[in-house]
Amino acid sequence: MMRTQVAIVGAGPAGLLLSHLLHLGGVDSIVIETRSRQEIEATIRAGVLEQGTVDLLDSSGVGERMKREGFVHEGIVLRFGGASHRIALTELTGRSIMVYAQHEVIKDLVKARLEAGGRILFEVKDTALFDLDSPSPKIRFYREGKVQEIEADFVAGCDGFHGVSRPSIPSRHRHEFTRTYPFGWFGILVEAPPSTAELIYAHHERGFALVSTRSPEIQRLYFQCDPEDEVKNWPDARIWEELHARLATREAWKLAEGRIFQRGIIAMRSFVVEPMRYGRLFLAGDAAHIVPPTGAKGLNLAVNDVRVLSQALLDFYKGKSEDALKTYSTNALKRVWRAEHFSWWMTSMLHRFHDDTPFQHRLQLAELDYVVTSKAKAITLAENYVG
Ligand code: PHB
Repeated sequence: MMRTQVAIVGAGPAGLLLSHLLHLGGVDSIVIETRSRQEIEATIRAGVLEQGTVDLLDSSGVGERMKREGFVHEGIVLRFGGASHRIALTELTGRSIMVYAQHEVIKDLVKARLEAGGRILFEVKDTALFDLDSPSPKIRFYREGKVQEIEADFVAGCDGFHGVSRPSIPSRHRHEFTRTYPFGWFGILVEAPPSTAELIYAHHERGFALVSTRSPEIQRLYFQCDPEDEVKNWPDARIWEELHARLATREAWKLAEGRIFQRGIIAMRSFVVEPMRYGRLFLAGDAAHIVPPTGAKGLNLAVNDVRVLSQALLDFYKGKSEDALKTYSTNALKRVWRAEHFSWWMTSMLHRFHDDTPFQHRLQLAELDYVVTSKAKAITLAENYVG
């Protein structure tokens, strides 16, 4: 039996950042994780950080490599009807975004925790949460050949959409809201120079496509696909043909090809559970909500949850008041629903739906046209995008 103040389930961005921020405030935690350190540091996810996320990582002392290796972007491009239209994020909002991969954030956080003597228990199995509605909740798991247990004051469920934390809340105490989209994203990593200085979000009759980046040598590209499709159905030549078709433009622009060294299909869903608390269990990040990646909000929402939750926990330990913990769910959900709406809106505007009528297609184009011609509408997109 181990004892800590906050037991954290999951070493993703939410769990690691929570552990880090609690440590800075003098509160002890233990993080448990089913995967190995190598696995979490190699999992390819999104790459756009809002300025608020960048500022928090930076002010908490884990932003050094990000500032050196990340890329500040001051705009994005919407491409449709064969033409590109820039949304000048910084001009419209005064804020920018940073392109820096999620697994790089993970590496920085793991390093910071381990250097500070933080406890992260990797490769645990069969985790169970119990006594959540008591003052001393516990988690039990199997590790290094034996059953181990952690007793804590609080449990933070940061174990993602498929984790054990959310289902540990009795179903009568959970309201779940779900929308599944009839498409997925086919994502690739490519050894190639950048084709564009800013991310390109493309609307095309054959479906959505996105050009993003990771570094001057590595590019990240996506295109809308059938969620049931399989990677093996997409030889390189077919991938490039599809990307060239969807990104075609009348402007002088060329998509740089290169060796594809990573490929995968991502499901698209919107999901929220309310409330994000049960007794002494607090949910944060993907355990509580999922957004489709079109708005680049997932990681940023997790960071915001943890910002609010760490502050509430630190308030508790400082003043023995539970007030901030009581409002955690309501406060976090306000931003969650804003991001849910934005991500749904971007997704709906940019993708091809299989039951689309020509009427709906024209509506999408009318909306895109409005976004790139009305300053008010462009600001709406920009202020949501930058956070
Ligand atoms: C990415 O670079 O992985 C990325 C960028 C923008 C998105 C989603 C993913 O909206």
